[in-house]
This record gives sequence, structure tokens and C-alpha cells, in this order.
Amino acid sequence: MSEAALPTHVSVMLDEVLDAMNLQPGMVVVDGTLGLAGHSVAMAKQIAPGGLLIGIDWDQAMLARAEARLKTETDGVEISLHHADYRALPDCVREACARFGRRLLVDAILLDLGLNNAQIEDALRGISFRQNGPLDMRMDVSKGVPLSEILKTISARELEQILWDLGDERWARQIAKVIVERRKTHPIETTDDLVDCIQAAVPAAKRDKRLHVATRSFQALRIYINGELDELQQAIESAARCLNPGGTLVTLAYHSGEDRAAKHAFKALSQGEGFTNVFKKPLRPSEEEVARNPKSRSAVMRVLRRNDSGEEQ
Ligand SMILES: C[S@@+](CC[C@H](N)C(=O)[O-])C[C@H]1O[C@@H](n2cnc3c(N)ncnc32)[C@H](O)[C@@H]1O
Repeated sequence: MSEAALPTHVSVMLDEVLDAMNLQPGMVVVDGTLGLAGHSVAMAKQIAPGGLLIGIDWDQAMLARAEARLKTETDGVEISLHHADYRALPDCVREACARFGRRLLVDAILLDLGLNNAQIEDALRGISFRQNGPLDMRMDVSKGVPLSEILKTISARELEQILWDLGDERWARQIAKVIVERRKTHPIETTDDLVDCIQAAVPAAKRDKRLHVATRSFQALRIYINGELDELQQAIESAARCLNPGGTLVTLAYHSGEDRAAKHAFKALSQGEGFTNVFKKPLRPSEEEVARNPKSRSAVMRVLRRNDSGEEQ
């Protein structure tokens, strides 16, 4: 498929992110969740000439598209791309800074958490209940197994716990029961198979009219299979320690679990002398942005700055 025909992603709170970072030519920035490089292209323009952009994504398909875009839309910056989990951000920074002969600390870091529209709209990824496709859901297909494999053996009890904890799904027990019953005769291999199980478990009259009946379960299973919340707070804290004095870390979260991790990390770090939580109340997208890009509506932005002294208590 040509690039123009592929699904795109609209970067969220772009102006607010750039304002918070106050980037200058020559700076070193890290985009820990590169996606389709929307934020990265804008950041790269501000650190040119002479800057270094370090981009990380655990999805090879996103990295390939981001690389092509960065090549054509940026100039005068060095670029280091890494197929990695942002939990390994300090390693990526060390590697990139050594390769380009830079100091080991960076001026700004962005973590735009979660997934992007191009991943959701790709039926072959099995992330969306709106299109039928193989039930995979992995962001990094070089690791682990597809969700369809897990659903063959997982216990009803564990499944219920995942749906409840990660999706706030109040029909978790019933959905888990239907999945475990149905797999005895029919393997659950596609997104439609999973939607059928959920529809069979949740009585039509009791469904929340504002949400598709499968929304919560799909979200929970995606977060589970990708370990999206695992050690997230520690990862954010380690990322912040890669900042230069005066440097800025911005998080954008779209799920309460992700934002909780960012909030706790910022609180832990700013209790010492080393960091300041810039906005006590997180920023939200403007009404104008939500009208233009409804997918931005759940975004919560937090900003942490490393103090000029750079010291921690
Ligand atoms: C919301 S999108 C980023 C969109 C990007 N800011 C843009 O403007 O195009 C999040 C990206 O982060 C990646 N991602 C999510 N969790 C990750 C993790 N733990 N490690 C590395 N990449 C991750 C996803 O694959 C996805 O491409």
C-alpha cells in the first residue's frame, strides 16, 4: 500500500508540548513513543541546526514509517532510531549519545503513551473490534504470542481479573465464562470471534449505550498482552534521571492507569530537590482541539522539569 493510502495519526497537544519544552538549536531530545513521528518532526525543526533526536518505538512498522517521514521532513539534525521498549530509554540514550559524541544527558523527553491511530486502524493487528482480523494485539510482534494463543489456555479466573482490573468491565465474570466455554468447541481466533463472545455474555438491555459493548474488554486485553502498565512508574522515573539540569519531561496519557503512573512518578521525583512538577493540575486539550480531533479528548498532559542545580535529595 502506498504511504498516502495508509492510516495516519494526528499528534495530540502539539503546541502545548512544544511550549513546555522550550527547545533550542543544538539540543538533544528523546521521543520515547515515536509513532508516526508527528511530535518528533516538530521537535526536530526546533533543535535544528545541530540537534540530536533519539526516537524509540517497540513497533517496527511505526519505526519504518517514522524513519521515512523524518528523512523527508527534517534537515540539519542527527537522528538515532531504536526498536525498543521505552523502559530501556536510558540504554537508548547512552547508545545514541556515545554514537554521536554527545554528553549523556538530554534536554527534553516526550512519552505520548498508548497506541496510535495507524495501529488501531490496521485490521491485521487485531486491536480494534470495528474490523475483523486475526486476534493478535501485540505492539511488538517480534516477541510473545498473539492473544488468540493466550485465550486457548488462560483460566476463567485470570481472564476475569484482567477484564476487571484493566478495563473496569463489570461483566468480566460472564465474559470470561463465555470465552472459556466457547473455546471448547470453537477456537477464538479473530476479533469478530471475541466480539461474539462479549455480545453473548452481556445482555443487550444492560449495555452502556455510549460505548461499544467490546470497548472495555479489548482495551483490557491489549494492555495485558503488551504489559503496557508494567513498571511504568519506575520507567518514567528512570527516564527523568536522563535529563540535563533545566530539561523537561512531558507525558501524555489516555488511560487512567497510565496517568496514575505518571502522577506518582512526578510526585516521587518532585518530593526531592531535583525536580519540579510544573503544573499541579495536569493540562487537557482545548475545546478547539477536541472538536478538530475527537480522539484527543481523553488526553492528560503532565510536565516535569529537572531543576537547574540538577540535584536530588
Ligand atoms: C500515541 S502514539 C505516538 C504518536 C506520536 N507522538 C505522533 O505524533 O505520531 C504511541 C506510540 O508509542 C509506542 N509505544 C507504546 N508503548 C511503548 C513502549 N512501552 N515502548 C516503546 N514504544 C511504545 C506505540 O507503538 C505507538 O507507536
